[in-house]
Amino acid sequence: MSEALSAAPTVYLETFGCQMNELDSELVRGALVTLGYRFVEDWRTANVVLYNTCSVREQAEHKAYSRLGLIAQRKRAGENVVLGVIGCMAERDGKDMFRRYPQVDLLCGPGELDRLPNLIENLRTSQLLGDDAPRLSKDARSALAGNKSRRSTTLSAADDNLELLDLSRAFEPVDPTTERRSAYVRITRGCNKFCTYCVVPNTRGAEVHRPPDSIVEECRRLADAGVLEITLLGQTVNHYRYVHGSAVGSDGREQPQVGPGLAAFRSTSTLAAGLRTTTFADLLGRIHDEVPHLRRIRFVTSYPRDFGIDALQVMRDAPRICNYVHAPAQSGSDRILKLMNRGYTVGEYEEFVHRVFDVLPDATIAGDFIVGFPSETDEEFEATCDLVRRVPFKNNYIFKYSPRPGTVAIDRFVDDVPLETKKLRNNRLLELQTQVSQKVHEQWIGREVEVLFEKVRAHGAQPRETDPDDASSISHPASKNVELRWQRAKPQEGTQLIGRTQGDLIVAMGVTDESQAHRVGTFGMARVYAASPMILHAAPVSSA
Ligand code: SAH
Ligand code: SF4
Ligand code: F3S
Repeated sequence: MSEALSAAPTVYLETFGCQMNELDSELVRGALVTLGYRFVEDWRTANVVLYNTCSVREQAEHKAYSRLGLIAQRKRAGENVVLGVIGCMAERDGKDMFRRYPQVDLLCGPGELDRLPNLIENLRTSQLLGDDAPRLSKDARSALAGNKSRRSTTLSAADDNLELLDLSRAFEPVDPTTERRSAYVRITRGCNKFCTYCVVPNTRGAEVHRPPDSIVEECRRLADAGVLEITLLGQTVNHYRYVHGSAVGSDGREQPQVGPGLAAFRSTSTLAAGLRTTTFADLLGRIHDEVPHLRRIRFVTSYPRDFGIDALQVMRDAPRICNYVHAPAQSGSDRILKLMNRGYTVGEYEEFVHRVFDVLPDATIAGDFIVGFPSETDEEFEATCDLVRRVPFKNNYIFKYSPRPGTVAIDRFVDDVPLETKKLRNNRLLELQTQVSQKVHEQWIGREVEVLFEKVRAHGAQPRETDPDDASSISHPASKNVELRWQRAKPQEGTQLIGRTQGDLIVAMGVTDESQAHRVGTFGMARVYAASPMILHAAPVSSA
């Protein structure tokens, strides 16, 4: 091991997919840096190339596969490079990937990332030993959860090593010269919903909730290190529920806990048994109260059903919890929602939206839609358009249905909506959403908003929202990486500070000179004077 390390290996790590993957990559990076690895920006020179992959749509996988071809070329040229596929694709494809892509040296699923450093070390050691080294078996080159991840009721805390990765997070002080003031904190892993189109329950495994003490502690340490904004992560965050006293490790610490399943939301069984429970609302309240130097607390993704009034009330009463809800509706047709196994009707979704605005009149709401789900008719697509007209979504990510191996939908439904129709529906819904977004943004004209500034942009540079079908950038708006790509240009006259409101609206504030750049990473007040579908244009408020 030390021999391998003495070579100070370099790593290139590219991340596809959702925020969960971005967080995983950050943790993997931290673990490898601790071991002496050095991260580089160029895949051509790295000793170890890792792709943290996404399987949510076929297109996402194609991207990663095309990268594998590039590394195969390096290997053919005789270079010694370790190629690792980690994340959801590794889990979904399994060891078959070794056969189809022989250039792949290691596979590591998202639930086994704590084992990744060892896998890499073993491979590098065998590579350094040269051709005489016995080729490591497929088993020795992979860490996959396989079926284990879905033995939901039997997953013991001891099986759940991944918690170690979250706990091992390094809490480096935020470098004052960087713009990084935001961080992710996982509260729940996996998913128990089984929407029929979705691979996530297979790739990420059963829903597991982290102990509230660990979550609060992680938030506190990040805030101590200078982080101002935390986004809590989970596939269905508002499903968070931790029953105390039932999963304690030998060290006395509470352990991650398998989700109680839907029954817990319908009965008072745990209350009746006298067990103390931390709900999502309780967790939000705890983080807010116990980490007072955290300026903003966000969370994604919310599941429309199960979003209790209690969580909304905590959001109302706790000023530093952002009044922002990302709760995908997926479709505006009851029949399609049923085929998707979403567990709510359009009416119930709208009731949820009304509840949000009743309690939080200033809330912003965003979501996702899938168009061209099997058998979706023109009328059903129109029903989706109608829902978008009725709900003041600030934005929506719109995806063309992509049949995924291992899902119920691919087995049960024929992918019968032609690609052309999917594209047309996608474009129409995007157009409609643009109009809705414009109206939502216009409502802020004339108001003062608090902005966390994230970057400076030069006059004339135009924002471009990344292609929502580009799964490598499914950056939901609450993400610190909300992907606005500004054309590169040197700061000049007419410089603007770009940031976001607590409701995740993007603000461009004109400033007179470049020296304002030091305000990146700070808060300021701005008065909105104009709006476009994606952006609020604002002027500084002098008292800020
Ligand atoms: N847990 C989140 C979503 C995670 S996946 C939730 O339930 O809201 C992110 C988005 O990808 C989903 O909301 C859905 O709109 C989209 N998606 C998932 N599987 C898909 C598929 N097979 N085809 C097209 N879009 C899909
Ligand atoms: Fe996928 Fe549905 Fe779970 Fe979201 S809630 S991750 S869409 S199965
Ligand atoms: Fe995320 Fe893609 Fe996996 S959306 S959970 S990385 S399949």
